Amino acid sequence: LTKQLLGFARGGKYEVRPTDLNALIEKGSEMFGRTKKEIRIHRKFQKDLWTVAVDRTQIDQVLLNLYVNAWQAMPEGGDLYIQTENVTLDENYIKHFNLEPGNYVKISVTDTGVGMDEATRQRIFEPFFTTKGMGRGTGLGLAAVYGIIKNHGGIINVYSEKDKGTSFNVYLPRSEKEIAITEEKLSDEILKGSETILLVDDEDMVINVAPEMLKAMGYRVLLARSGKEAIEVYKNSKDNIDMVILDMVMPDMGGGGVYDRIKEINPNVKVLLSSGYSIDSQASEILERGCDGFIQKPFNIKDLSLSIRKVLDQK
Ligand SMILES: Nc1ncnc2c1ncn2[C@@H]1O[C@H](COP(=O)(O)OP(=O)(O)OP(=O)(O)O)[C@@H](O)[C@H]1O
Ligand SMILES: [Mg+2]
Repeated sequence: LTKQLLGFARGGKYEVRPTDLNALIEKGSEMFGRTKKEIRIHRKFQKDLWTVAVDRTQIDQVLLNLYVNAWQAMPEGGDLYIQTENVTLDENYIKHFNLEPGNYVKISVTDTGVGMDEATRQRIFEPFFTTKGMGRGTGLGLAAVYGIIKNHGGIINVYSEKDKGTSFNVYLPRSEKEIAITEEKLSDEILKGSETILLVDDEDMVINVAPEMLKAMGYRVLLARSGKEAIEVYKNSKDNIDMVILDMVMPDMGGGGVYDRIKEINPNVKVLLSSGYSIDSQASEILERGCDGFIQKPFNIKDLSLSIRKVLDQK
């Protein structure tokens, strides 16, 4: 039944993406708060919250269900506390849930409402269990919440005291994949493409970030971490490589040397030179030898996308 419920809203489509829950929660709770003036919402978000991989529509739905329940539990108004936190769950805590110990993001939704007794608390996640009168509740809200959290490899638990309030805690596993460059950050200003790019750089900073940027723009990426490796990769795959982004300063072989070698292999090769220094004599010399463009590091995604298109679209 929960499976049906979960797929229901989306015609069975799931879309799991690395997500910043703070941003997601802020948006959703603000929207909710605008329609419910009688409750005060307090947000306390952990800075640098870990990334989680979620279906955002489903997590929005989970949170909305929790907010609505909290609101209904506070007919005279009250306080709603929404918090996020990075937590590490150990063997001891996790063993009842059949999950791996490790890093989780905890979301808690706490109200100062009517609370519930133990007998009610035991049953709240059952489908069709409701204490709300005929025609008011279907009792499916928390059943769906439970199913969604479980599907995400997470945990939900609840603490409640009659006449004091209720606290729901949701734990979602940290995603190893950090938020790459999410689609919404790709504004119109960013030009996309689908060509294959050989990225040559020895700096971890660049190696960790630039391929994600390039992939987010639609490109296929090959990576070389030294001048020698670059020449090797280029030799082997030159027919598949549409352009090269070449770092100028590398320990084994400077950008100039690499440039000359790959130019020998393919005189029509397109090269975007990159360097931590602004154009200096060394760079301008390479540019004069026919290199197609220059970008200064550190670059942002917008500059990078523009520089790439300039090079690739050159006739
Ligand atoms: N924040 C809360 N405070 C007190 N009781 C709660 C709270 N959240 C849930 N409950 C109890 O759990 C029951 C089940 O909740 P659930 O959201 O599944 O169904 P519902 O709210 O009754 O109906 P629906 O969500 O389908 O409109 C509720 O009827 C209520 O008794
Ligand atoms: Mg409900």
